[in-house]
Amino acid sequence: MHQRGSRPAPRFRTQLNTKSLPPFVDPLPIPEIAKPTGERPDPYSPGSKIPYYRIPMRPFEAKIHRDMKPTRLWGYDGASPGPTIETRSGQGLLVEWANDLPASHFLPIDHSIHGAEADKPEVRTVVHLHGGKVPPDSDGYPESWFVPGKSVVCHYPNHQEAAMLWYHDHALGINRLNIFAGLLGAFIVRDEFEESLGLPRGKYEIPLILYDRIFDLESQLNYPISGDDKKPWTPEVFGDALLVNGKLFPYLDVEPRMYRFRMLNGANARLMHLTMPDGPALRQIGTDQGLLAAPVQLQRLNLAPAERMDVIIDFSELAGAKVVLRNDNLPVMEFRVGRSGTGNGDAKKLPDRLRPVPKMDERSAVKTRMLSLVEVDDLVQQPVTMLLNNTHWKMPVTENPVLNSTEIWGLLNTTDDAHPIHLHLVRFQILDRRRFDVPNYWRTGTVSYTGPVEAPEPGEAGWKDTVRADPGMVTRIIAKFEGFPGRYVWHCHILEHEDNEMMRPFDVLPA
Ligand code: C2O
Ligand code: CU
Ligand code: CU
Repeated sequence: MHQRGSRPAPRFRTQLNTKSLPPFVDPLPIPEIAKPTGERPDPYSPGSKIPYYRIPMRPFEAKIHRDMKPTRLWGYDGASPGPTIETRSGQGLLVEWANDLPASHFLPIDHSIHGAEADKPEVRTVVHLHGGKVPPDSDGYPESWFVPGKSVVCHYPNHQEAAMLWYHDHALGINRLNIFAGLLGAFIVRDEFEESLGLPRGKYEIPLILYDRIFDLESQLNYPISGDDKKPWTPEVFGDALLVNGKLFPYLDVEPRMYRFRMLNGANARLMHLTMPDGPALRQIGTDQGLLAAPVQLQRLNLAPAERMDVIIDFSELAGAKVVLRNDNLPVMEFRVGRSGTGNGDAKKLPDRLRPVPKMDERSAVKTRMLSLVEVDDLVQQPVTMLLNNTHWKMPVTENPVLNSTEIWGLLNTTDDAHPIHLHLVRFQILDRRRFDVPNYWRTGTVSYTGPVEAPEPGEAGWKDTVRADPGMVTRIIAKFEGFPGRYVWHCHILEHEDNEMMRPFDVLPA
């Protein structure tokens, strides 16, 4: 993507060519479901108790592929992806996140990046529940990191609709490295309404957590570096190995019936375009923040970093067949459809209507903010930083919606790349995208549109918490800032961007 410059090529270790490994020799792992260690008083009503989990972050080794050596990783509870936390809407819980990692990092820290200076401890972690409506002191503010030997208890009230959220590291300036090391996992909220739809469940509901990685010849993570020892940061990381639930090229034995796949793009930077050329139809039933109003049939699943997709695949016509899920036409995983099922006959038919998604009215917005996405290049047109609204992390807060008010945010992407923009705390709807004249915007500071208003894609027309801001377009979202007053963040979810200034605090002001 960024090959304009003439900076020396990255000098990272020789890369393992994972394309030479035989595909589909390892079964797809399914992350364990996290188990509470006990109960503690509910911070909101100390008379009642809620589940209490303790999840340590630990170094461990895992086999990514049968023919690779064990890879050193960092994971929640010694697994990557970490254990899936499952709860119900309105059922709060507490997690004690414990940092049991070593004192030094094994991936290349860039000390020239804000928040990662040489006087900061190398290993710092803080956990964020992405998509959670969480009080500010439990939201994983990037500066609220803690070091090995410490732990922090977070309260997740879960007053929100059924959806697959995810938890991941959020430490300022090294988040890309901590997540690349393995610090991420799924968090599923369920509710009665969703259960009334009779969707596939139990062993027929499977999380597919996708992210790409690069390995060296010793099968160790090989995070690329710029070639400048003082500033190893690179603008985006794209790996040749696309893992599913931590395995390269896994296979999954399925019955000839309907399945529900909870997909997450957990990659640092890669936008995925998933297809199943010989397979059955892909029907999307949900997005980041839960169910769509109705299923949408798609040829291709477009998934930007941090986005989720809830997808129904019906293998019932494919008994005995093998079908391959591909990304940009490269194999990702194989489904092996058995001759017959053991299924109990549930979920034969997908409902035509899912969950109503009432369209938010633009006129309910009390404020519209136009916020630019900017790439700052050096003299050889190599990006040196990415900014939101031309402001750095440390500058005073500029976005300060009032609690319970509705705002429209227009994301003006002046760069050549798509940026997945995420707001903490809130769910939002995409209003539209529209091409604008970028050079004119730089000259005059005004937005002149050069294209028609484009409605969100059918699969985006639900509740979202991350939106693809396409290059040269204004992407408009509308959100009601419900939940809690306090300090949160919004940022690009390309982790290399987020770590290098493409993140800003925002304040929800008391009503
Ligand atoms: Cu997925 Cu601020 O994070
Ligand atoms: Cu988030
Ligand atoms: Cu970005």
